Formats: sequence, structure tokens, C-alpha cells
Amino acid sequence: MRTSPKFLTIFSAFLCFLTTEAILVRQESSLFGPYDAANAHLAHWDLSGTAHLAETAIRLTPDEASAQGAIWNNYPLMSNDWEFHIQFHIHGKGVHLNGNGMAFWYAKERLTPGHVFGSKDYFSGLGLFIDTVENAAAPHNHRHPYLSAVVNNGSFPYHHDEQGTAGQVGGCHLQARNLEWPTKLAISYISDVLTVYLDTQGTETWTQCFRAVGVHLPTGYFLGVSASTGEHSDNHDIVSITTLDNIIPEKVWEDRGLLIPHAEFLEIPFVEASAKAEAEAAGSDSLFGKIVYFGGIAVVLYLAYVIFKKYKGKKDRKHRS
Ligand SMILES: *[C@@H]1O[C@H](CO)[C@@H](O)[C@H](O)[C@H]1NC(C)=O
Repeated sequence: MRTSPKFLTIFSAFLCFLTTEAILVRQESSLFGPYDAANAHLAHWDLSGTAHLAETAIRLTPDEASAQGAIWNNYPLMSNDWEFHIQFHIHGKGVHLNGNGMAFWYAKERLTPGHVFGSKDYFSGLGLFIDTVENAAAPHNHRHPYLSAVVNNGSFPYHHDEQGTAGQVGGCHLQARNLEWPTKLAISYISDVLTVYLDTQGTETWTQCFRAVGVHLPTGYFLGVSASTGEHSDNHDIVSITTLDNIIPEKVWEDRGLLIPHAEFLEIPFVEASAKAEAEAAGSDSLFGKIVYFGGIAVVLYLAYVIFKKYKGKKDRKHRS
């Protein structure tokens, strides 16, 4: 399916200074090169972990193992309807051994490192994950790199398996590694409809990845991008970010500061933290797991024996009297 985001139509008009009221580029939440590699500072954005400025991009991680990097905008986004355009480049020496991927965030908390592509788990807001790991040991129903969007209220852990990502509202395969040109992603949020478009060919042709209705996101959250590498790696580069306010004429701005992020329709259900931990424990062959497991059984058997002995003792005494 080939479609054009609303942006494209309006952007041409915008370029010609025929500015309509419909769209506004947020300078303070946008990011363009060329970047000054000698300078560690970026206006309106904070860098963390391995993130640093290269000339044509912001490199979140180098093509090295165990790296984590992120950039976070320091302006809370107050509009109800918005669009982000992100150009990025994932490239590395590995042919199939690469990873882990990157994540785009519209989240409540910023700059908190963690194990979900370099950022905090149990996030509140919207997370768009690009998982690039080809895992031959754990076959998937979908091809990687795989993009999935999750709306979380802070209660659920990140969990990706053969189905996709727990809690995802939409997703698609995204061929975005070792391309000669940057990959473009447009994330549009208008009237509670979240739509993601991709341009992986470098031809300004947009393909719809998914469209999800009934997505409720608060105002006042922050835009961020993070990436991580594990045993295997990739360079994760951000070329540019454009943030647009979609101002819908006659629509009254709504303060959604207290809204809890939620989605009405999930493609894949969430996994509870305890269920996830159990599944992981059951799947783990670790010695520690076995010790805890057999130790637990031994304790239960011992307690049963003690109780039984006590009970039997009582009974015996009753018989004697
Ligand atoms: C998050 O969503 C779940 C499921 O809808 C709900 O049970 C839980 O109370 C919510 N948590 C918060 C903090 O709103």
C-alpha cells in the first residue's frame, strides 16, 4: 500500500511560504545536520551514554559490543496532534550477526538508561521499536528487522517473542540495515489515530507500516531516540528529526497532562511481569534456577514431614489418654 502522509501535501505548500495554519515545524524539537563533531553540546537535546556527534549524524552507538546511547529532547510536547519525521541509518560490519536495534520514544521520563534498546523498561507513553536481531535459535513468525509500536502505562515489561512485541498496536517488517541511504520514518498522530509510514528506498515514496485507531496519548511527554548493541553490534545513526504540530482548524486544544496512555485495540496482548518472569525462569537452565527449584521442593517436603510428625504425635497422645 502506497500512501502519502498528510505532511507531504502540506510541506510543499510550506516550502513555498504558502504557510497554512495546518502545520508548524517545532524548531526546538527538531534536529538537523551538519553537526559539529568537535562540540559535545546540542541545543534543546541531551545526549547520554555512547551518543555523540559525528559530522553527518548523531551516532547513538558505534559498531561495538555492549553500547547504549540516547538523545532526548528537553521540551515537553504540548500539541494534541503531531508528526515526527526521523531519518536514521543502521549499518555495521556484521552480515547476520548484528544488533540490537533502536527505539523512538514519546515518553514521560527522559534520560533513564535501561535494557530496552538503551532505555528504561516499564515506560509510560509510546515506544516504537526496531529490533534488528536475526535470531535463528528462536524462530519468529515475522521477519527482522521488525518495527513494533507499543503504548504502555508504565505497568508492563518489554517482551518480544515469535509473535511480535507484547502490547503492540501495530508493526511491520522494515528493511533498514546497511542501506546506502538513510531510512525515513514518519509517525503521525492525529485525532487519536497513530499511523507510521516508511521510506526505505530513498525515493520519497511512503509505504504505510500500520494504522491504529483509538490510541490515547497525553500531552507534555518527551521525544527521544535510543539504541543499544549487545554481543553483536551496529552503528545506530540519527540523521535528522523534524517535529510538526498538526493544528486542526477549529479544534480546541485539550490539556491531556493527566491522561494515562492507553490503546483500545492491541494486536498482541501484554505480558504481566510475573508471568514473564515465570516463563523466563521455566525456560532457564541455570544452576541457580535449579537450586532454587529443588531447594523449594525440599523445604516443602520437610515442612510437610514436620507437620505430619506433629499431627501424628498429637494423635498418638490422644490415643494413649
Ligand atoms: C495499566 O493498564 C492496566 C491494564 O489496562 C491496568 O490494569 C492498570 O491499572 C494500569 N495502570 C496504571 C498505572 O494506570
